[in-house]
Amino acid sequence: MPTAMRKILVTNALPYANGPIHIGHMLGYIQADIWVRFQKFRGHECHYVCADDAHGTPIMLKAQQLGIEPEQLIAQIKESHQADFADFHIAFDNYHSTHSDENRELAELIYTRLRNQGYIKTKTIEQLYDPEKQMFLPDRFVKGDCPKCGATDQYGDNCDVCGATYSPTELKNPKSAVSGATPELRQSEHYFFDLPAFESMLKEWTRSGSLQDEMANKLNEWFEAGLQMWDISRDAPYFGFEIPDAPGKYFYVWLDAPIGYMGSFKHYCNTTNKADFDDYWQLGSDAELYHFIGKDIIYFHSLFWPAMLKGANFRQPTNVWAHGFITVNGTKMSKSKGTFIMARTYLDHLDPDYLRYYFAAKLTSRIDDLDLNLTDFAQRVNSDLVGKVVNIASRCASFITKKFDSTLAVEITDRTLIHEFQAAAEPIALAFEKREFAKAMRDIMALADKANLYIAEQEPWQLIKDPNRAAEVHEICSVGINLFRLLMIYLTPVVPALAQRVQEFLNEEFTWDSHQRILTAHTVRPFSALLQRIDMEKVNAMIEDSKQQNEAPAATRNGELERDPISPEIQYDDFAKVDLRIALIANAEQVEGADKLLKLTLDLGGEIRTVFAGIKSAYAPDQLIGQHTVMVANLAPRKMRFGVSEGMVLAAGPGGDELYILNPHEGAKPGMRVK
Ligand code: MSP
Ligand code: ZN
Repeated sequence: MPTAMRKILVTNALPYANGPIHIGHMLGYIQADIWVRFQKFRGHECHYVCADDAHGTPIMLKAQQLGIEPEQLIAQIKESHQADFADFHIAFDNYHSTHSDENRELAELIYTRLRNQGYIKTKTIEQLYDPEKQMFLPDRFVKGDCPKCGATDQYGDNCDVCGATYSPTELKNPKSAVSGATPELRQSEHYFFDLPAFESMLKEWTRSGSLQDEMANKLNEWFEAGLQMWDISRDAPYFGFEIPDAPGKYFYVWLDAPIGYMGSFKHYCNTTNKADFDDYWQLGSDAELYHFIGKDIIYFHSLFWPAMLKGANFRQPTNVWAHGFITVNGTKMSKSKGTFIMARTYLDHLDPDYLRYYFAAKLTSRIDDLDLNLTDFAQRVNSDLVGKVVNIASRCASFITKKFDSTLAVEITDRTLIHEFQAAAEPIALAFEKREFAKAMRDIMALADKANLYIAEQEPWQLIKDPNRAAEVHEICSVGINLFRLLMIYLTPVVPALAQRVQEFLNEEFTWDSHQRILTAHTVRPFSALLQRIDMEKVNAMIEDSKQQNEAPAATRNGELERDPISPEIQYDDFAKVDLRIALIANAEQVEGADKLLKLTLDLGGEIRTVFAGIKSAYAPDQLIGQHTVMVANLAPRKMRFGVSEGMVLAAGPGGDELYILNPHEGAKPGMRVK
């Protein structure tokens, strides 16, 4: 089927740079990767980009917790994300970060265009402010009692107990989740994007008929509820891009996140010359643009994003394709059940092609949730991939190798089945194109059944006993290998590593059009086991591992990067700037009103210092008095709510009750320099 060459740009939702990839995330990446591989396989020009979503309060706070710069945190997470994706055979053409020059420039450009068109408005709003941490608090960082049912310890946006939604200012007994302080209301000027101005354009898009039904329904609900101005600014301190001409104001992470699609593509265009940026993004572009996303972020992609593009004079996405959420064994992924499985933990135990196949076997173009039932997963993969597909080759290959000099028959007279398999290419391609992967997999497995039936009926293992019938065996096995080959061509976008091993065995490189060929008189390479069955013990070991990661203290949690990473290298001179001294803790006392601090009186061999140390949850004052420890003696004094802190004591550990102050060996005297 010769098709005109299409130009396609595909993106995946950008994962947040504050934690590892888990198998829930993997659904969207596997779905898009299969679709992209299919398009490339068919000979289209298709580019596939993604990036880490690196901005926002959670990332800023997480870096602070770890005692590192946010840049360091996002660099480390990016590396781990890229390793996970690569090992799952997600073949991005470019993987970037939203914290990049390209993205900053594009965000500024889009914002400026929107502002110049009059789509940016300012308004002073009231928001909860953490006086201790000196920052405005996002809804999720305020906790308190539900205003409706009174349940304690609820987040600032909704109640887990009664389901009520409210604004954080309505919470009773609000506390900052960052410092524990009682937040106060403060005013600040915010920047808003005029989403309602785009209502008619967005409605038109909804009626275009190309949207998923569920997506169109959601949009209609939102239109009925009325579109709202969108708050796109956040006050310092914030990890993100500062808004042009608005010092101290930053773009809200969701403003520059989708622009990250463009930023990543721009970086790719600039560094590889494989595509022209404007060709794909300018108004009237004839390239196709698709965003694969999860159902939780439809609002951002189907309202804000098209409106931003429109207002800034860029093209619209051809489509936004949402997928549902993963459940494991019928329920939400759970840390205690061991079903909150990190991508890396999966990879430690199982072949990524298994999961790629299983997801493909269950994916449709709809937004339904998808259950990963682990028993079904093992059975399905074993019965389909190993028992049906690979089995065809195992049954035929050894005869070809041992009896026929590794070469397929010169003549294949009975081509009925082969032709049937070739004819299936069209409907299978159509199913891939429409993201009806489950249908494609069903078609392929139905063919696999036919191939197995054919071999079972022909019984080559019986015929081979009769030396006069060798030619028949040769032909039957050659038909078998051809059938296997056709199925593997169709499965290539789904199970790339298995397909690679098959291509090595067949001594051939696949393209989609390879299905038009029949292999005769073709020499194959030695056959070795192509795919192992899933051993349920490995699945169970993966669950056990996931459970243990959950039980281990945060600081040692495998893969979650809670482990304190090593800081970048410094020179001796940098180190020598820090004046470390032995200090005697002469006194330690509680601080009225402070949740975390103890007030320490430190004796530096005559010189007395007052230090407020965040070790209250780890030590009672009595445990400390009389101990020797190490302090930073030349740290600039810091004014805190309870007084001035004149230095810092050294302690190890992640925090909370897991903090251990350093003790020198006996003999070290107060005031001695530590070097
Ligand atoms: N950073 C935003 C996306 C910005 S796009 C401009 C984000 N990041 S995320 O890390 O929370 O999620 C990344 C993707 O994984 C999203 O598409 C999200 O829907 C998807 N999933 C997260 N958990 C999932 C499941 N349990 N199941 C399926 N997809 C899931 O959102
Ligand atoms: Zn409630």
